[in-house]
Amino acid sequence: MTQQTSFDSADLVLREIEAQAEDAFLPIIGPDKGKYLATEVHKANPRRVLEVGTLVGYSAILMGKEMQAGSEIVSIEIHRDEAELAGENIISANVPAKIKVIIGNALDVIPTLQGSFDLVFIDAEKTEYLQYLKLAEPKLHMGTVVFADNAGVFATQMADYLHYVRHSGLYESQYIQVGGDGVEVSVKL
Ligand SMILES: C[S@@+](CC[C@H](N)C(=O)[O-])C[C@H]1O[C@@H](n2cnc3c(N)ncnc32)[C@H](O)[C@@H]1O
Repeated sequence: MTQQTSFDSADLVLREIEAQAEDAFLPIIGPDKGKYLATEVHKANPRRVLEVGTLVGYSAILMGKEMQAGSEIVSIEIHRDEAELAGENIISANVPAKIKVIIGNALDVIPTLQGSFDLVFIDAEKTEYLQYLKLAEPKLHMGTVVFADNAGVFATQMADYLHYVRHSGLYESQYIQVGGDGVEVSVKL
């Protein structure tokens, strides 16, 4: 009963953010690609998730909804205003996972994080994806899932990242086309 209520509140917040994104530019992952993200999170059943690029908390809530009580998402956002809005949305959504938003540049924050991550969602500055991944790599383990948004529309900006996950031999990686964009899902070997 309690869990049902918590899922309903999360859905409500997600629908509200989607409506805001239709009225104003708000680069959330959105419901279509979000479905793939939710599926990967559900499959991986992660205890700890690292998110790079919180914005207003849409994807963090989407992931947190799929995770179990006792699990945690560490989400990094460079802009204080966005992070504060995310904090409000996260409280309203009331998902099972604990979501901690850190305000700062991911390039500075990632090296300070303790412990390991079972899933990483990268969705910040497109030309920095490879730097985020390399900084996070010491905290990944065999089987960690790395999910990167915008691998279709920003493939040029992300070319070094895509080349790395596809050809370094460190990941098994696949591109999934979703509508006019796509996501790259890479599993650490
Ligand atoms: C595409 S939005 C994230 C959308 C969010 N993941 C979602 O689907 O709801 C990208 C976010 O990354 C943030 N960002 C950009 N560069 C960053 C950096 N170096 N460190 C942390 N956040 C960054 C931006 O301020 C923006 O809020």
